[in-house]
Amino acid sequence: MIITIDGPTASGKSTTAKLLAQRLGFFYLNSGYLYRALAYLLMRDKGYSLETIGDPTEPDIQTILDTKRLEYDCDSQGNPIIRFDGSNITPYLKTGSQIDQASSLASAHAIVRHILLDVQRDIGKKHDLVIDGRDTGSVVFPYADFKFYLTAPLELRAQRFMNDEQRRGNKMSIEQATKQLKIRDERDMTRSIAPLKIPQGAIIIDNGLYTLEETVEILYQMIRHNQ
Ligand code: C5P
Repeated sequence: MIITIDGPTASGKSTTAKLLAQRLGFFYLNSGYLYRALAYLLMRDKGYSLETIGDPTEPDIQTILDTKRLEYDCDSQGNPIIRFDGSNITPYLKTGSQIDQASSLASAHAIVRHILLDVQRDIGKKHDLVIDGRDTGSVVFPYADFKFYLTAPLELRAQRFMNDEQRRGNKMSIEQATKQLKIRDERDMTRSIAPLKIPQGAIIIDNGLYTLEETVEILYQMIRHNQ
């Protein structure tokens, strides 16, 4: 079974998806980590910067998105683990606004999306899956068994985003958080390939009205009663 959860940045989809996967005993695929891993490695190994990462060369993309080198797995708590050439790079993938921006820029590239489409579908062939991202119900798994679109008001998402960044040691004002979110939302929604949108047939949930536990419970009950 495939369950997709899409939505804008800081809509709570990753935590919801992880907890839902745990509850169902499914594999959790956080597709954002794949884009983050690519951006991190393009900067670390290939010398890209925020100015150039939106237009990486095909050989550079292919060297990094080689499935013999880049592996996606989950630990016993369902947290994503990304390894490159056997070493765990996960701690570097959520460490600040540079990697946030770089992954957003690199993710608009056609070849990047094309290769990662196959990577995600291959994982879906091996597991019952809860996957979260921007295009998982619209492009990656358009025939998913259940599709959800999570959202929340901008002010609330900005507050969550700021809290997350501060927990990771990045000082940020609410104005800066709001500005960064708007830029990323705009870029994700207006890119020509696989933009963020509400997938056809998706159930929309505004989780500004619910706690995390309530959100997971709503999704879980919808799946249980419609199987
Ligand atoms: O979800 P997260 O913020 O970790 O994703 C990092 C970036 O990767 C996002 O800003 C988005 O631009 C991109 N992304 C995407 N498609 C997905 C998942 C993430 O374009 N399915």
